[in-house]
Amino acid sequence: MVSQKPGFIKVASIADIASGGSKAVTLDDKRSVALFNVDGRIYATNNQCPHMGYPLTRGTVRHGVVTCDWHGRSFDLEGGGCFMTGCDDLETFPVELRNGEVWIGVESREYKRKDKHLRLLWEGLLRSDEWTIAKAIALLQAGEVPESEIAQVCLRHLGRHVTTEGGPDAGLKVSSLINGIKVARQYRGEEKLIALAGAARATAGEAGQRKPIKPLPPPVTWEKIDALCRVFSRDRMVPGIERCLLTARQNEENNDRILKLLYECVVEDHFLGFPDNLTSMAYLSQSVSEFGWERSEELVCSLGSKLAGRRRSEPQLFLRVAIDTMKSLAPLIDTASAEPAAAQGYDEDAFAQALVGTDVKKAFEAVADVLKAGAPFEPVIDSFVLLAADRMARTPVNVNSGWPELTTELNLSASLRTAYKHGGKKVTAKAFFHTAYQFFQDRWLNIPFRALSQALEPGKLEATDEDSGIAEICGSIQALSVHNVGPKVRGYLDAGFNGERLLHEMGRVILKDDTGQSIVPTLASIFEEWERLKGHPARNQLLVGLARYAADVRRNKNSQGFAQTALRFAEGRTTVDVYEK
Ligand code: FES
Repeated sequence: MVSQKPGFIKVASIADIASGGSKAVTLDDKRSVALFNVDGRIYATNNQCPHMGYPLTRGTVRHGVVTCDWHGRSFDLEGGGCFMTGCDDLETFPVELRNGEVWIGVESREYKRKDKHLRLLWEGLLRSDEWTIAKAIALLQAGEVPESEIAQVCLRHLGRHVTTEGGPDAGLKVSSLINGIKVARQYRGEEKLIALAGAARATAGEAGQRKPIKPLPPPVTWEKIDALCRVFSRDRMVPGIERCLLTARQNEENNDRILKLLYECVVEDHFLGFPDNLTSMAYLSQSVSEFGWERSEELVCSLGSKLAGRRRSEPQLFLRVAIDTMKSLAPLIDTASAEPAAAQGYDEDAFAQALVGTDVKKAFEAVADVLKAGAPFEPVIDSFVLLAADRMARTPVNVNSGWPELTTELNLSASLRTAYKHGGKKVTAKAFFHTAYQFFQDRWLNIPFRALSQALEPGKLEATDEDSGIAEICGSIQALSVHNVGPKVRGYLDAGFNGERLLHEMGRVILKDDTGQSIVPTLASIFEEWERLKGHPARNQLLVGLARYAADVRRNKNSQGFAQTALRFAEGRTTVDVYEK
């Protein structure tokens, strides 16, 4: 181990490095340095190949170029430049020979490569190269670059990708990005890297060029934009909507109006049966709140117009009935949205029961009754969320548990909160019908109705303290013990142990052992809803449902191993340091 302070340090004797040979030395910060003797001239470089960390001392040197023995990347020994794409340049050190000794100049390890690593991340996104993405994020994390800067690179790339390559289903990518960032904020180290790398990977893909869209020539008032977007939405004219939105963006005053207008378009009755319209709008709105309009403009205007102008096929019988019923309720929605909320609550159990029946008219009437009674919107949203969580907590898992449908119910219900914030009461009132339609459409009749106010069955946990309880539950998830994990979570919560801690630990298992990507949006929703729904008798079903879902869909792709490799790479260790010593 060679002592390393900034300045020149002795690392070897010239006699130690035969002509045409090489030698690795380790600095006291664990960096491995490669020394090469090329016809008597000594070169010093980082020994870790910038591609995947193989030691370059095991490579081949010809004409002053070292070629890595693993995947053949080549580097100029003098300046470190890489001769291939998809690889960072190699770090080199100045060398002095003093009385038969090799001295190299080292700088402090102050992080100076942020811009290079952000660019590396962008290259990884463009090439959908999972390793480059994980490596770049691990390097940025090691340099303590905040996740918001990492997220901005992904957001910019996603905007361009959606603009040139994606359709309305690109909302899934936005969901992965926004929810991955939310989950990453709950963790440090490995788990943070797994969540961020997963979020970034979801946004990867080609991103072409297109001619910039010019704003409409004046005169263009907001009223005109508003009217045209609604017409274009009905007529499925995506480019017209996008040009209107980009024109509206010329005036800062329109920013809030744009999201509201998009929301108003996507909750129209003809969009019943498109739950991702609301979830995608929620994630686009969160992107604007989090990263600002400047950074989100391309993504919001492009995906927003694709959602609002998406194609709909001729509706089938049930959907036609639902659309006609919602149309007939338009005057009620207008009146209810204009009036202040009544002080009294509403019958949550009756509402929930109507939602999971087999009659779409009854489900819509229940929503209409809630609106007529003037119930405050927040408790109604709570009921949607808890009803979805309760169904996840009780769905039979023998044949088809229906996780995609049930988690859509949960995430759609949670997205109502963002619809309320950015779209207002009328949008949310209409969104209630869309959410009710989702519950009806799933018709998961093998989950019998259970009143949300009813106490839960007692649980069953063997452990007698909190730590062992968490270990028992996480062990059940890892063992795919979906039948037992629910009672264990209930038993843990019945004992008064800390639910927030359990949620964090379950999140770790999900991230490390599953790849988590399909679960991450639901995990993010449950982090938020667990906080919000304190005191409700059905709240524990959030954790029960998550535990069962995680145990049933676990894929065991060992995301942890992947993250550990990237983290060790970011520490500067070669693959030989990691795997052979
Ligand atoms: S080319 Fe060196 S590790 Fe891949």
